[in-house]
Amino acid sequence: MTINKAAAIGGGVIGAGWVARLVLNGIDVAIFDPDPEASRKVGEVMKGARRAYKQMLPGGLPKEGRITYAKTIAAAVADADFIQESVPERLDLKHKVLAEIDLHAPANAIVGSSTSGIKPTDMQVAMKRHPERLVVGHPFNPVYLLPLVEIVGGEQTFPEAIEVAKEIYASIGMKPVVIRKEIEAFVGDRLLEAAWREALWLVKDGITTVEELDDIMRYSFGLRWAQMGMFQVYRIAGGEAGMRHFMAQFGPALKWPWTKLMDVPEFNDELVDLIATQSDEQAGDLSIRELERIRDDNLVAIMDVLSKTNKGKGWGAGALYKDYTRQLAKLAVKKKKKPTSKAAEKAKPAKKAKPAKSKKKAAGKKKG
Ligand SMILES: NC(=O)c1ccc[n+]([C@@H]2O[C@H](COP(=O)([O-])OP(=O)(O)OC[C@H]3O[C@@H](n4cnc5c(N)ncnc54)[C@H](O)[C@@H]3O)[C@@H](O)[C@H]2O)c1
Repeated sequence: MTINKAAAIGGGVIGAGWVARLVLNGIDVAIFDPDPEASRKVGEVMKGARRAYKQMLPGGLPKEGRITYAKTIAAAVADADFIQESVPERLDLKHKVLAEIDLHAPANAIVGSSTSGIKPTDMQVAMKRHPERLVVGHPFNPVYLLPLVEIVGGEQTFPEAIEVAKEIYASIGMKPVVIRKEIEAFVGDRLLEAAWREALWLVKDGITTVEELDDIMRYSFGLRWAQMGMFQVYRIAGGEAGMRHFMAQFGPALKWPWTKLMDVPEFNDELVDLIATQSDEQAGDLSIRELERIRDDNLVAIMDVLSKTNKGKGWGAGALYKDYTRQLAKLAVKKKKKPTSKAAEKAKPAKKAKPAKSKKKAAGKKKG
């Protein structure tokens, strides 16, 4: 299934990232966000996303979808076939917003939630009409570049909704992974939360600074993880004997005090000051927007390189990037070829203008 019209409820860091991905795929999006600054903030993210996509597509971008700002959730979702909720991570707010979306959205529209860790079962109780169409579609920041989306269904979610959600996310260049059992924080954030807790301990205990810890990641396993995951990397680390040898070698460490995981650092002002002050020092003169640009340039460059390895077939996120950029390039060509002006019609005198029906069909197809 492809998206004809989308709605984004919440246009913050993540909501705006969704808007950028959708719009750059030629899809119209209606946004509802009560923040009076929302359109400026979305505009900033759009600027960054366009800049990144221009690097991905030197031949030109597809015609952008239209962004509109709705005054209510009801108006935003009224004619949408795909709705993505990205409001702050509070269950009471998710309930309020999802109840309203459910009340006003077309019955067959799919509703995705960007939640980082709330179980869909706990959210869909607020949906009185069609709770079966709610899925978690958990993305990673920046949504317009990172392809992964974790899909999680709740107790009331229909399997068909998961299948449609998979198709929808894939149609905008994403890699949907369906999480097999519903748990808090799903898989990505469970892993990240473990690393985050350890990182807080290491800085709090004065073992490393924020900057040193980031260096330890980005000069070593961070590079490995961009192209192979934990298990494949460790398989290789086991040498010719592979995973069995790796496990035998590091099995005993499971009983050693290598992690503080069961213990959580106390969250207080002292901890926040310690981390935030060091983070300010690490950033130096670089603003958040400048850091975003550096991040985006690096991500595009990494995916581009990964699209060329493995005998030209691409590898991991790079193989997907190759398909995605091809899909967008085709969409951009269609835009250029569309006989909108007399000049364009003159250029192709032998061809009859397409009837409205087939034009519509082509427009639907180009998004796939
Ligand atoms: N930031 C991340 O890295 C990240 C990654 C993945 C998922 N998420 C999830 O995405 C969701 C949004 O997070 P974020 O980081 O974009 O937060 P954010 O604070 O940047 O944005 C939230 C937006 O929601 C708006 N909002 C508040 N009440 C609203 C309402 N009633 N209706 C519509 N909009 C409303 C706010 O004005 C704000 O613009 C959360 O569930 C979060 O867990 C965040």
